[in-house]
Amino acid sequence: MSDTQGRGSTSPLPGGDTFPPPTALAEAANVGADAYERAAADRLGFWADAARRLEWAQQWDEVLDWSNPPFAKWFVGGKLNVAVNCVDRHVAAGHGEQVAYHWVGEPGDTRTITYAQLQDAVCQAANALTSLGVQAGDRVAVYLPMIPEAVVTMLACARIGAVHMVVFGGFSSDALASRITDADAKVVVTADGGYRRGAPSALKPAVDEALTKLGDAVRSVLVVRRTGGDVEWTEGRDVWWHELVDAQPTTHAAQAFDAEHPLYIMYTSGTTAKPKGILHTSGGYLTQVAWSHHAVFDLKPDTDVYWTAADVGWVTGHSYIVYGPLANRATSVMYEGTPETPHRGRWWEIVQEYGVTVLYTAPTTIRTFMKWGDDVPAGFDLSSLRLLGSVGEPINPEAWLWYHANIGGGRCPVVDTWWQTETGGHMITPLPGVTATKPGSAQVPLPGISARVVDEAGEPIEPGATGYLVLTEPWPSMLRTIWGDDDRYVDTYWSRYGKTVYFAGDGAKLDEDGDIWLLGRVDDVMNVSGHRISTTEVESALVSHPTVAEAAVVGATDATTGQGIVAFVILRGNAVDSGDELVAELRQHVRKEIGPIASPRQIMVVAELPKTRSGKIMRRLLRDVAENRELGDVTTLTDSSVMDLIGAKLPGTP
Ligand code: WTA
Repeated sequence: MSDTQGRGSTSPLPGGDTFPPPTALAEAANVGADAYERAAADRLGFWADAARRLEWAQQWDEVLDWSNPPFAKWFVGGKLNVAVNCVDRHVAAGHGEQVAYHWVGEPGDTRTITYAQLQDAVCQAANALTSLGVQAGDRVAVYLPMIPEAVVTMLACARIGAVHMVVFGGFSSDALASRITDADAKVVVTADGGYRRGAPSALKPAVDEALTKLGDAVRSVLVVRRTGGDVEWTEGRDVWWHELVDAQPTTHAAQAFDAEHPLYIMYTSGTTAKPKGILHTSGGYLTQVAWSHHAVFDLKPDTDVYWTAADVGWVTGHSYIVYGPLANRATSVMYEGTPETPHRGRWWEIVQEYGVTVLYTAPTTIRTFMKWGDDVPAGFDLSSLRLLGSVGEPINPEAWLWYHANIGGGRCPVVDTWWQTETGGHMITPLPGVTATKPGSAQVPLPGISARVVDEAGEPIEPGATGYLVLTEPWPSMLRTIWGDDDRYVDTYWSRYGKTVYFAGDGAKLDEDGDIWLLGRVDDVMNVSGHRISTTEVESALVSHPTVAEAAVVGATDATTGQGIVAFVILRGNAVDSGDELVAELRQHVRKEIGPIASPRQIMVVAELPKTRSGKIMRRLLRDVAENRELGDVTTLTDSSVMDLIGAKLPGTP
């Protein structure tokens, strides 16, 4: 476990303060302690009950088919329409006037969208996509800012059985192009741009650039006008949303799809340079995201105002801005922009204005708020909040306690939710009405989820020890495969401990109470501001630059972002080291290849890289350098003087 990354490892020893659930919340909680007993006695019966919270056009014959692991089928034979479950059934039940989203644009413009209005918009978009030739099973690429049309597009795809593939707006045109190719999408939905940090930020040019590389692979580009900025236009391919979608009828007869019909693909970084297209399907996915949202956020549809402050371009947005909340008839806040625009109290102003009751965000953002100071949130009325959530990386106890005290006023439970793009929904987390929470620990698997911490041999570890997190039973919202690559699916997740044990890639520790403490990734994946970025992907971006011969990338502990990207590069023989200029150019190159989120915090030009005799780069040592630590064991290096040379390159070293 020497390669374990992440801040969790700095957690104080467990057993310190715990925070019991507030009595009033516990008494009225959606889910109580009995759920654990029920699921332990009959796991599949428990998930069948959860599935019955949805509306099925046809009942399933079998809850789980696990006869061909690791390929699972949930709710076999069942049929449903995901969009109908998220929208139409609430309208039909008389809740059409309820607000689905209070949308807040960064410049201050707002839109209020009721369930009835959402239904109209989704029907129009479904008709529009159909008119562009999109059929059930086709992939639709979505590259949009945080505007309501993103939600509408996703639901419209679900409604017609098309598979959405949302690409986060922070990815470059190259990253977009490779995803469009891998998913073989024929239609792209985008916008002229969105607002970030007080200025319009264009999106359409990245689509145009991506499509020049792809020939005529993409048939249509549907463009939302958001910023009003100038856009290049390709006649016959590009269509304005306001011209096509707004002209469609607001009715659409939805067909029910098989429970295992694909719902979406979301690309995530793996240990190789090629991102993995994680495939999620319909019935099991919606069952688990809806149930977990109901249980973990204790969502009360008539009174709560719920806010997941994340981007729809990530799985957190898919499961907990769109599908979970809508399936539960939540009223949500959706915010387009950055937390410091136009001032550092923007989030708290939104909480105050809309009376937000449940807030879900990432540790990196919480640490940024900590840095900005207690007085910023103190200037706003945050008394509406009753529950807080955290996701994306281990939350260090200091940040947990700050969040609890300064945002939650000491009264709100904090649920630290561990899960992944692959798991689709929450897996390990406290339940707010049941669990006495421990700052820094995600604690316990949800009812119906089987998790363990094991050693190299797959044996459960003793309390106090450290090992690998595995999931020992299939769960409804699990990924079904990697798009187009079943072998990689098996190899990556289901080979280390056999075909029925899911290897999560996270290190974990068990405390004396049996609670789970996540310790970060154990593979070559970094976690920067809650975004998963592969070291290999950044390395291959660097090596694709004409001056670079070799590159090694590590995630170094960073007080705000969790990890920061530090790159070590060896230049080609004929390349000139122009110092800062070269570093700036390399950084720009990575932005172009992958996107701004992958731009290294630090790039060091070195003469050699530390390698083992078998030629493997020893990232552990580079991490020591990047974190200004004394070097670990160098005895397996071919040449230990390499490290002296690299050390001498560091700023501040004598
Ligand atoms: C990390 C985000 C500790 C973990 C939903 C995981 C966490 C990866 C937590 C998945 C948490 C996420 N505590 N670590 N509460 N939540 N992680 O796919 O390393 O973007 O494997 O999904 O983030 O990241 P992904």
